[in-house]
Amino acid sequence: MIKGSTPVTLADPAAEKAKDETQRKRKHLLDLADWTKEEVEALFNTADVMAQVMERTIKKVPALQGFTVGTLFFENSTRTKLSFERAARAQSADVMSFAAGASSLAKGESLKDTLRTIDAMQSDLYVVRHAVAGVPYQLTRWTDAAIVNAGDGRRAHPTQALLDAYTFSKNFADFDSFEGKKLAIVGDVMHSRVARSNIELWTKLGAEVTLCGPSTLLPRELEQFQNVTLTNSVYEAAEGAHTVMALRLQNERMGAGLLPSIAEYQARYQVTEEVMAYAHDNALIMHPGPMNRDVELSGTVADSGRSVIEKQVANGVPVRMAVLYTLLVGKK
Ligand code: CP
Repeated sequence: MIKGSTPVTLADPAAEKAKDETQRKRKHLLDLADWTKEEVEALFNTADVMAQVMERTIKKVPALQGFTVGTLFFENSTRTKLSFERAARAQSADVMSFAAGASSLAKGESLKDTLRTIDAMQSDLYVVRHAVAGVPYQLTRWTDAAIVNAGDGRRAHPTQALLDAYTFSKNFADFDSFEGKKLAIVGDVMHSRVARSNIELWTKLGAEVTLCGPSTLLPRELEQFQNVTLTNSVYEAAEGAHTVMALRLQNERMGAGLLPSIAEYQARYQVTEEVMAYAHDNALIMHPGPMNRDVELSGTVADSGRSVIEKQVANGVPVRMAVLYTLLVGKK
């Protein structure tokens, strides 16, 4: 040991893990694995109250006055970032907004130092998006603030799944329960964190999920989950579905050779009126966005009366208001 230097003490891994687990259960939303059906239903009830706030002339309540929410987006976003910021401000929280492209990351500052810098300005909760799976979890080790995962790599996008399920429950005719409902997810399942979180959530709530796409974009290991089936036929996927969710082809995450051509993809997997004729009479059309119109679904279907794509975006605000409220002042 160098004379005069501080002795190094190694952390007890078991104690660290116990601390991690307590923190994670108490106040983070990293994925939906440890959320029970009852907790999700309670969150949806809170979202109903928040939706009423968003229908008022003055769309603001003091529920989170004195709290600060930091939005840390290391990857692009339109919907998620704006709706979390709207959700925080509608509850009178202060918002610190960080965009990686305009930050000192470009000057070589590390992720940890970036977080510690922002943390020095006292935030109570961070909403984090990163291209690398596990980064939101890693950040829980470097801050005492709560962490909400706004999308990490291909792994999870829990608030998107929550708002998708919430939107279905509010728009499917005579909705009473998720039990026995069928969600068909069509497209680039391989690269989709939205698909993974929706599988986790909808099966937990009692629904069946059918995944559809070219074999190169359809990971076979997802078949191991209960109530999940895989198919290469878009017609088979749509058969009797209560909602059909089209996914974007994530060209930015795709290596060469996964698709013969966009034209072939459109011919075999585009969600069209012909495909929707196989679905339940009241079936809804969903897309988490951003959407490549006339690639993963036809413009006619996207603009049809069955489409709830804009309602998904609108519902993102009350659902995220409920998430912020539940983690900061409520009980999860
Ligand atoms: N659905 C979704 O995550 O959209 P953004 O990338 O625009 O946030």
